[in-house]
Amino acid sequence: MALPKIETRNVCKVYETVAGPMTAVDDFSLDVADNEFVCIVGPSGCGKSTYLRMLAGLDTHTSGTIQIRPGNDPKKPLNSVVFQEYAVFPWKTVIENVTFGLQMRGIGKEQRLETANYWLERVGLRKFANYYPYQISGGMKQRVSIIRALANDPEVLLMDEPLGALDAQTRIVLQDELLRIWEETHKTVVYITHSLDEAILLGDRVILMTAHPGRLLTTFHIDIKRPRTIETLNTPEFAELRGAIWEQLGKEVTRAMEMQA
Ligand SMILES: Nc1ncnc2c1ncn2[C@@H]1O[C@H](COP(=O)(O)OP(=O)(O)OP(=O)(O)O)[C@@H](O)[C@H]1O
Ligand SMILES: [Mg+2]
Repeated sequence: MALPKIETRNVCKVYETVAGPMTAVDDFSLDVADNEFVCIVGPSGCGKSTYLRMLAGLDTHTSGTIQIRPGNDPKKPLNSVVFQEYAVFPWKTVIENVTFGLQMRGIGKEQRLETANYWLERVGLRKFANYYPYQISGGMKQRVSIIRALANDPEVLLMDEPLGALDAQTRIVLQDELLRIWEETHKTVVYITHSLDEAILLGDRVILMTAHPGRLLTTFHIDIKRPRTIETLNTPEFAELRGAIWEQLGKEVTRAMEMQA
């Protein structure tokens, strides 16, 4: 069997706080296969973002091991991250934002523009290439964040509530776009969301985390056939999975709220 693309073994994260040590993530183990789309859901504060930051190398882990296996191309970045906040450079145009990572990696101008234009075209932003972020909508800015990450062609794509700040309609449009992009790229993705529907729609697997401290509660395999579209949300098999997962997630969310009360 192929080795997992991402290997997380018994990871703990303890923050030192004024009130003493605080365990945010506890004995968390998760393997993600190459080309797999894994979604993580769990109550607020259970350590999802902490885990993603550790995966991205933006935060350290206290114990355990985390590994992202490189592929055949040593020049490829191991990961790119997309956050909820529109993490675009306000002083750069749309196309400059998309080419930034490529430029940092020393990719020539012609190839940078070709890659950027491909992705801009792909998400309907070609006409806005020379606009600044303040001149475009929230949905468009988040498209820029997403294609900027994809343009880097990372080994794994890490996304933390990437559509969380968008209105409901824009969110649906971007979910549909993410589905189509994934059909094309088959990237290895770790995707955090508060929306159970989004997790089931996008993921090959949905991972539930427990309320604080975050541990792995259950894994659900989403065997709904691909390609999926927004219409998939209306199928009986979708409703059945949603019901089964919510039965467990709902309990954890309630438990988290009781702990905070
Ligand atoms: N830098 C830090 N120092 C101390 N505690 C932290 C720090 N960052 C996060 N925490 C704590 O770790 C726990 C997990 O936080 P995290 O942001 O990972 O949760 P989350 O699951 O992403 O929540 P949400 O769904 O609300 O985004 C929380 O109790 C949080 O207060
Ligand atoms: Mg978070």
